[in-house]
Amino acid sequence: MTDSNNTEKKPWAGRFNQPTDVFVEAFTQSVSYDKRLADYDIIGSSAHIRMLAKVEVVTKAECEMIIQGLDAIMADIQSDQFKWSIALEDVHMNIEAALVQRIGDVGKKLHTGRSRNDQIATDLRLYLRAEMDDIRLKINALIQVLLTLAASHNETIMPGLTHLQAAQPITFGHHLLAWVAMLQRDQARLQDCRVRVNVLPLGAAALAGTSYPIDRDYVAELLGFDAVMQNSLDAVSDRDFVIEFLACASVMMMHLSRFSEELIFWMTQANGFIDLGDQWCTGSSIMPQKKNPDIPELVRGKTARVYGDLMALLTLMKGQSLAYNRDNQEDKESLFDAIDTVKACLVAYTGLVPTMTVNKTAMYAAAAKGFVTATDLADYLVVQGLPFRDAHEVVGKIVHYAISQDKALSELTLPELQQFSTAISADVFAVLTLEGSIAARDHAGGTAPRQVTKAIERIKKQMASEPEQP
Ligand code: ARG
Repeated sequence: MTDSNNTEKKPWAGRFNQPTDVFVEAFTQSVSYDKRLADYDIIGSSAHIRMLAKVEVVTKAECEMIIQGLDAIMADIQSDQFKWSIALEDVHMNIEAALVQRIGDVGKKLHTGRSRNDQIATDLRLYLRAEMDDIRLKINALIQVLLTLAASHNETIMPGLTHLQAAQPITFGHHLLAWVAMLQRDQARLQDCRVRVNVLPLGAAALAGTSYPIDRDYVAELLGFDAVMQNSLDAVSDRDFVIEFLACASVMMMHLSRFSEELIFWMTQANGFIDLGDQWCTGSSIMPQKKNPDIPELVRGKTARVYGDLMALLTLMKGQSLAYNRDNQEDKESLFDAIDTVKACLVAYTGLVPTMTVNKTAMYAAAAKGFVTATDLADYLVVQGLPFRDAHEVVGKIVHYAISQDKALSELTLPELQQFSTAISADVFAVLTLEGSIAARDHAGGTAPRQVTKAIERIKKQMASEPEQP
C-alpha cells in the first residue's frame, strides 16, 4: 500500500521552513515503483552497517540492533505488511524512517558515511545482477525446448529461403539451431555485461567519498561484487551498466522478434508448415474460422518497447554533467519495463515452442517446388570438370527449360538434361533429390541430419559445463 500525505517528517527537512507542496511530493516521489528494490536496499544497508562496525564507526551492539531492525522490515515488506509513504519519497527514506520508528535513534546511525546517491546505484546493480542471472536461466530453458524440437526434426526437410524465395533445401532442425545460436550469443553478451554491473559504488557517498575510515573491499566482499568502483564521481553518476543491459535486451528482443516473424509466416495458410497449440493462440470476434498467432505477434510488438527503453536511457544520460542529478531517478521504470518484458517473452516462447506441430509433408512439398537443388547440379558439373561460372550458366538454362516444361529438376529425363551439357550422366539424379542435397552438406555448421545431431550434442555439453551461478 502506498499512502499519500505530506505530514511525514522528511530526513532532509532541517533546512526548510515550509512543507513540500503536495504536487511536488507526487511529482518527485519514486517509491511507487522503486519499492521493487527494497530487498536489495536492505541487503546493501546491512553490508554497510557491518562495515561501519568493523571499522569501529558504530559499535557491534548498534550494528546488531540495526540489522535486526532491517531484517524485521524485510519480513514486513515481503508479507505486504509494510506501509509505504509517498511523503517519504523513495524506497531508501521509507525504510530508514521505518527503522528509526522500530529501533529508535540508533537507527539514525545507518546513513553514516553514505548518501542516497551511492545507495541507489548499489541497489540498482544488486537488483540488475539478480535479474540478469534469472534471464540467463530463462534463456537456457528456451534453448532446451528448441534443442528437443530440433532433435526430432534433424531429417525434416524444408525450403531454406533467401529474399523469402526458395533457395536450398535445409533441415528444420538446422533452422531451429540457428535460433539457438542467436540465443547463445545473447547469453554471452549478458555475461560480458555482468562484469561491468558487478562493481561496487558504495563508499562514493554523495560524490566525493567520505571522511570515515571505510573499508570498501569488505562491503564488496559481503555483497558479492567483484571490485569497487575506482572514482567516486563516476560511481554515483554512471548508468552505462543500465544502458549496456538494455542494449543486450534489445538485441535479444530483436532475435525473438525474428523468430516471431518466421513462426507467423510458417503458420500462414499459404505455407501451412506449422500449427501452434490452441491454448497458445487466440481467435477473432467476427471471423469464426480464425486462429491467430497472437503470442508471436505480441513478442514482435513488445520488441518496440524495449528499444524505447534503451532510447530513453541513452537520452536520459546524454545531457548530464557529473555527478548525480535527479534525472537519474527516471532510469528505473524503463529498466523495470525491459526486464519484465524480456522475461515474459522468454517464458512465452518456452511455453509456446513445445505446442508446435510440424507438417512435414507441407514443408517437403514446398521444398520440392522451387528448383532448390540447382546449386547441387552446378556443383555436380564442377566435379565433372566445368568451371563454376560456366556450370552456373548451364544450370540457369536448365531451370529456364524446366519452368517451360512445368517440371521439377529431378523430373527431367537424362536426354533432356544432356541437351545442355554432355558432362551429365545417369548419376546426376542422386544430387537432384532433396535428401541428396542436405546429406551432401555434411561439415561443421552444415544442414546434414548427421551435423544437426552432432551440433545438438555439442550445445548440450557446453550448457552442462557452464556453472549454475556465474
Ligand atoms: N530516488 C532517487 C533516485 O532514484 C534516489 C537518490 C536521490 N538522491 C538525491 N540526492 N536526491 O535516483
